[in-house]
Amino acid sequence: MGQELILVLDEGTTSTRAMLFALDGRVVAQAQRELTQFYPAPGHVEHDAREIWERTIACARDVVAQAGNPDDIVAIGITNQRETVVAWDRQSGEPLARALVWQDRRTAQQCETLKAAGQEALVQEKTGLLLDPYFSATKMRWLLDNEPAVAAAAAAGRLALGTVESWLTFKLSGGAHQSDASNASRTLLLPLEGSGWDAGLCDLFGVPRAALPEVTDNAGRLALASAEWLGRVLPITGMAGDQQAATIGQACLSPGDTKATYGTGAFILSNTGAAPPRSQNRLLGTVLYQMDGRRRYALEGSVFVAGSLVQWLRDSLGIVDSAGQTEMLARSVPDSGGVVIVPALTGLGAPHWRPEARGAIHGLSFATGKAQIARAALEAMAYQTSDLATAFAADGAPWSRLRIDGGMSANDWLAQDLADMLDIPVERPDFVETTALGAAMLAAVGAGLFADLPAAAAAMGGARRSFMPAMDAETRAERFARWQRALAGV
Ligand code: G3P
Repeated sequence: MGQELILVLDEGTTSTRAMLFALDGRVVAQAQRELTQFYPAPGHVEHDAREIWERTIACARDVVAQAGNPDDIVAIGITNQRETVVAWDRQSGEPLARALVWQDRRTAQQCETLKAAGQEALVQEKTGLLLDPYFSATKMRWLLDNEPAVAAAAAAGRLALGTVESWLTFKLSGGAHQSDASNASRTLLLPLEGSGWDAGLCDLFGVPRAALPEVTDNAGRLALASAEWLGRVLPITGMAGDQQAATIGQACLSPGDTKATYGTGAFILSNTGAAPPRSQNRLLGTVLYQMDGRRRYALEGSVFVAGSLVQWLRDSLGIVDSAGQTEMLARSVPDSGGVVIVPALTGLGAPHWRPEARGAIHGLSFATGKAQIARAALEAMAYQTSDLATAFAADGAPWSRLRIDGGMSANDWLAQDLADMLDIPVERPDFVETTALGAAMLAAVGAGLFADLPAAAAAMGGARRSFMPAMDAETRAERFARWQRALAGV
């Protein structure tokens, strides 16, 4: 046997990937496949769970084939888009409906009704979450109410409901139905404290407990992938929602350590240690990870539109040919010429939580060109992040520095603008695949290859580049004032 390798399955919103990690953090093989996005109606976003499985296992087989010696692979780590709900038949192992993606807003009315009935305070107290269609529980109920096959499977005692890690584990293992605590904490059904699902919450949302997975740790011998998939039985030893995995991959292992991932959306998580966070400022309390039954928590701010704004500029407006071009355009002008974009294209997430809000471009004049619009799009990332910085500070969790990652973080102009507008150092690891790295770290610890996460981070983590704040206070204040005016108008 040569070097020990960890196979990570990183199942994201727009694509699914597999990566092989060596224990020094090097990636020795990778494969990626896009996922079809279904938009059957405004605000509806669906995935084909069968496609998720088939493309994920195809990527896994690709990297196993690339491995010099497949026997070097000792464990599997899984990380995934969170909150997305899959309903399947336990007997046939087949999906019963399209998966409802985290971005799907179709249960907004159900959330409003529960809010009007005064349920939000109780839900927040128990779960750390708010009543928003983003989370899984109302999606589960929607499937039961609107998909006859789901209702029939429930009646026959064959229904399995789960998030994407549950789905992949079920398929890989040939029948284990489980969810790790970090993913489970995004459903609205798991209390932040305690071990399993909350019966009262299951009743409130109308989700049958019998259909739900068992809640597990994030590391350990969680399940076994059967030999038919990758040539031999492999243990699944690490699992986490992608934002929690990125927090671990960024080595945010001590209270106060904070990371921001700029992908489709932007997700900022701050490690709060062993105490469950109780936000007074519309942030989320979430499980960062659970090991040996003990939990570590994070405070989270979820912004729904980040990289997807640049994608929209590229694909719908044709303002840029590639996402990377925004950096050149932003640098080509001294400022945005008064243009402010409020990226509420699917409503506003934290800390505003306004599903009805819609996007706006303010301050257009005949002097506005592509460059000003591209710059305004990038500036919107710093504004959204700053609003969260204010909320985190008000919750007693101020940031002294911010570690960034995700596709957009490759943009140096954006990284500097974040440092300038937040007025704190911003750090970017040279290796930005922190989500997959975090899953690899969990799986390595779960397989007993490292004693704990700090040891895994020391062995697998790499160098970082720092961006130091350099903007004068007056410019910063002027820009904020412009953002606040634009935000008030949506
Ligand atoms: O909460 C949603 C989040 O997990 C999605 O992440 O990386 O697929 O955009 P990503």
